[in-house]
Amino acid sequence: MKAMAYDRYGSAEQLRLEEIDQPIPGPGEILVRVVASAVNSWDWHLLHGMFFERLMFGAFRPQYQVLGSEIAGVVDAVGPGVTEFNPGDEVFGDLSTSGWGGFAEYAVCRSDSMAHKPADVSFEHAATLPQSGLLALHCLRERWPDRAGDRVLINGAGGAAGTLALQIAKHLGAHVTCVDHGGKLEMLRSLGADIVIDYQRDDYTRTGERHDLIFDVSSHRGILDVRRALAPDGVYVMTGGPVSRIVYFGLIAPIAARIDRRTYTIRTHTFNRDDLMWVTDRVAAGEITPAIDRTYSFEDVPEALRYFDTGEVKGKLVIVH
Ligand SMILES: NC(=O)c1ccc[n+]([C@@H]2O[C@H](COP(=O)([O-])OP(=O)(O)OC[C@H]3O[C@@H](n4cnc5c(N)ncnc54)[C@H](OP(=O)(O)O)[C@@H]3O)[C@@H](O)[C@H]2O)c1
Repeated sequence: MKAMAYDRYGSAEQLRLEEIDQPIPGPGEILVRVVASAVNSWDWHLLHGMFFERLMFGAFRPQYQVLGSEIAGVVDAVGPGVTEFNPGDEVFGDLSTSGWGGFAEYAVCRSDSMAHKPADVSFEHAATLPQSGLLALHCLRERWPDRAGDRVLINGAGGAAGTLALQIAKHLGAHVTCVDHGGKLEMLRSLGADIVIDYQRDDYTRTGERHDLIFDVSSHRGILDVRRALAPDGVYVMTGGPVSRIVYFGLIAPIAARIDRRTYTIRTHTFNRDDLMWVTDRVAAGEITPAIDRTYSFEDVPEALRYFDTGEVKGKLVIVH
């Protein structure tokens, strides 16, 4: 089968279209013919060999040769012990606990990281949800914005998780402020943002507004800065940013919890099928629509990652296989 493989950390130039053996599903696994996959920031980090990824997935060379962890497709075969899926089922899910492999014709997936795709959700939309949708939902759940007048701020709102979180929060009736760079603000307005802030021109921690929830996709500020923008019982949840920021909040959050009613927390991505279906049902009902900036053919995965490199991506990039 065809796969977009790499064996050295670097840029998109490392990716090559190769013929490799089709994987065979083991116990608890299914083989999926991939119809659509999505590019996410984790693929980019793995391609470039960022600090955490080298720590976890190979210091000098990548452990997994085929990237791509958000997929939607059709079950081709099931491994021993799998009863909930059958060949021909339309499915979608997350390969980050299955060794990646989504940028290929076929991918082997742990069945407990996959779900049945509703017929009225396209493969392209389904592929955008398994990580980004869950990240958005789980971060919002740190302080579910469903009280009248709840104020949510999303920093880094123009990317994959942010555009979904914005729409979920608006669907719940929240007032949403979105922060990202100027080129993404029009798109964020069109998705329902009440206030947009260009982080290159204005400082969201100095507007005088207090928020019940700050969802920080791209954390670059200290705790005293974000505290200024939080309501007295507000919650700050971060999910990404430089390693130094993640370590900083990991150390400081438990100390802050002893002296402040505000909550500061880090959320990492975890798969949960019921939660994924909650987000997907909102898509099926037309309540939220994944923001897809561009779609690429499978052969153009390197082009998609090059575009990801520019930082201009609005929402998500989808690969049609
Ligand atoms: N695979 C996943 O979905 C996954 C899983 C676990 C954790 N995470 C983490 O969760 C985070 C969210 O992922 P994502 O997929 O939504 O990322 P994404 O699509 O890359 O979006 C990040 C957004 O943040 C913006 N940004 C960059 N620097 C900023 C700054 N200083 N202030 C405000 N905004 C800034 C980016 O815009 P510009 O760069 O164009 O300015 C971009 O629009 C990532 O940091 C990732 O490490 C992701």
